[in-house]
Amino acid sequence: MERILIKGGRLIDPASGIDAVKDILVEGSKIAKIGSGLNTDDVTLINAEGMLIFPGLIDMHVHLREPGFEYKETIESGTKSAAAGGFTTVACMPNTYPVIDSPAMVEYIYLKAEKEGHVKVKPVAAITKGQQGEELSPIGELVQYGAAAFSDDGHPVSSSNLMRRAMEYASMWDALIISHCEDPELSRDGVMNEGEMSTMLGMRGIPSVAEETMVAREIALSRYTGCRVHIAHISTKASVEMVRRAKAEGIRISAEAAPHHFSLTDAAVDGYSSMTKVNPPLRSGEDVEAVIRGLKDGTVDAIATDHAPHHRDDKEVEYSMAAFGISGLETAVPLAVTHLLRPGVLTPLQLAERMSLAPAKLLKLDAGYIAEGGPADITIIDPEAEITVDTEKFLSKGKNSPFDGMRLWGRVVHTIVEGRMV
Ligand code: DOR
Repeated sequence: MERILIKGGRLIDPASGIDAVKDILVEGSKIAKIGSGLNTDDVTLINAEGMLIFPGLIDMHVHLREPGFEYKETIESGTKSAAAGGFTTVACMPNTYPVIDSPAMVEYIYLKAEKEGHVKVKPVAAITKGQQGEELSPIGELVQYGAAAFSDDGHPVSSSNLMRRAMEYASMWDALIISHCEDPELSRDGVMNEGEMSTMLGMRGIPSVAEETMVAREIALSRYTGCRVHIAHISTKASVEMVRRAKAEGIRISAEAAPHHFSLTDAAVDGYSSMTKVNPPLRSGEDVEAVIRGLKDGTVDAIATDHAPHHRDDKEVEYSMAAFGISGLETAVPLAVTHLLRPGVLTPLQLAERMSLAPAKLLKLDAGYIAEGGPADITIIDPEAEITVDTEKFLSKGKNSPFDGMRLWGRVVHTIVEGRMV
């Protein structure tokens, strides 16, 4: 049995509240022992002095593009990118071709990930067949085949009645509905945030209300059906405020924010780089501050990358023609360390909760914690390392990132999945 001894790191376990220097002995796929002064022969030794030891990070919002768009990403390349980024589990979105809307497709993703994946993969199944917004997918059956959650991500579910029915079904299995909140009548053919900057640049805007009307609808439907509803890539101040109030009311709502929505404003679009084109768009400074406040007080439960790799041909065109999306797996930790940890917005325990324990709970995974007998999914981070983002070095096929060339703090040193260093 393979053994790894991680010595002298600062163990951060939000499940137990432990934040202390400890040694961790991994045996096989489990954590065998946690203590001080652990010493054993015949182990792979990791000197973790000065490092943060987090439970393996979980990204509940990733586009792996397989099947159908392998020129953008594959399960193999996307999970390699995840491992480099410190993620031990990723939940992949169903906007593939064919769409993940059948038991056969869910099984296919599991089999392919088992064969070629570098980290664990949990497929999110579509709410509606073909993500067409017309007919529900077989939600109960998909739960039995291991769908981690349900989402038409990339597309909103425009019909409120269909969303109501989806929530009624999903709640029978206590399944999670992840909502891409966008009213297409309001977003229309917008390409960036609607505001001063879009006016100045002469580009069509996506107003914040395009998100907020749908957040309001999902809260109302969750209140009515009792279904667990998760707001994907939350990006506006009013959305965060609505989720905060809904939680106070006891509604079963949760939310995630993407690193680009807490680290960039729409000012980044000045210069017309299509790398900044993402949906929902980069918002105003006020919105970014609200997202950060939401992450701080837990209104925003999780950080999720919305890793959206695209081919050069999809991005190296005029802004209005370019695809929406940012390749996010390999910059998430440095962005979180730089914008949340170092300025003291989040403590290490809170960051580990947002990036590991909270998504584990939302997806009902046996993960997100570090304890004797528990799974050996561990992420080791050097918070003092300074890095320069170089998208050409990304292991993802998607080099589309607005952070290229940026200097940031925080480096993932090791990612351990079920006791294997990946
Ligand atoms: O920017 C985005 N890209 N937002 C989405 O919701 C979908 C994603 C994609 O699939 O490229």
